[in-house]
Amino acid sequence: MNAIAKNILSVKEAALTRRSIRKFKPEQIPQSTLEEILSLALKAPSANNLQPWRIVLVQDPALKERLREAAFNQAQVGAAPTVLVVYSDMKDTLEQVEEIFHPDFPEEQKLARAANTRKMWESRSEQERENWGAGQAYILLGYLVLLLKAYGYDSNPMGGFNAAKVKEVLGLPEHVAIAALLPTGIAAEEGFSHHRHDLKRVVQWR
Ligand SMILES: Cc1cc2nc3c(=O)[nH]c(=O)nc-3n(C[C@H](O)[C@H](O)[C@H](O)COP(=O)(O)O)c2cc1C
Repeated sequence: MNAIAKNILSVKEAALTRRSIRKFKPEQIPQSTLEEILSLALKAPSANNLQPWRIVLVQDPALKERLREAAFNQAQVGAAPTVLVVYSDMKDTLEQVEEIFHPDFPEEQKLARAANTRKMWESRSEQERENWGAGQAYILLGYLVLLLKAYGYDSNPMGGFNAAKVKEVLGLPEHVAIAALLPTGIAAEEGFSHHRHDLKRVVQWR
């Protein structure tokens, strides 16, 4: 565990201090820390435990430059030492669906559940499947921004990009849904303080 990881923020501290950061110092996040953060983020829940999310970590400067162009030239994509591209691949998920069932399940139960799951999705179009998958990938995105903050790294979740271009740059298949780009690293700016709806504006008690 590295020096930064020793002072991990609580969930409360991370939620209170996280804000979108678009300027970064050049230092790279150590690979072992990124692996630790990613392993924890992968504990996020998903419907039926399908885990349709996939991630590409982009650190190569030339590739980041092309991603920046695909993200309407938003500078934070080029400025961050690492850009996570979070996407969903329901085709891959359903083809390999046996792997999501708990190892303690008896084999025949796994086979029956796999067949059921595939049947459930049969009637849905590719686009419906991938849109649904992207919804699941946003759950992972929420975990990622909080975990990165807890480990001392800032980020900027981004939906502003041309998905077809992002797929082309990364060589991803056409059917996948790109949920978000997430430039991350050590902050070189403070960002804006939170401006949020009051609880009463968005919550009803019944
Ligand atoms: C799904 C999503 C897409 C976003 N897309 C962009 C984007 O393309 N560019 C950008 O600068 N910020 C983007 N943001 C950041 C929001 O503007 C920001 O989260 C919001 O204004 C609240 O500010 P805060 O993150 O600093 O608390 C996005 C945030 C989310 C969650």
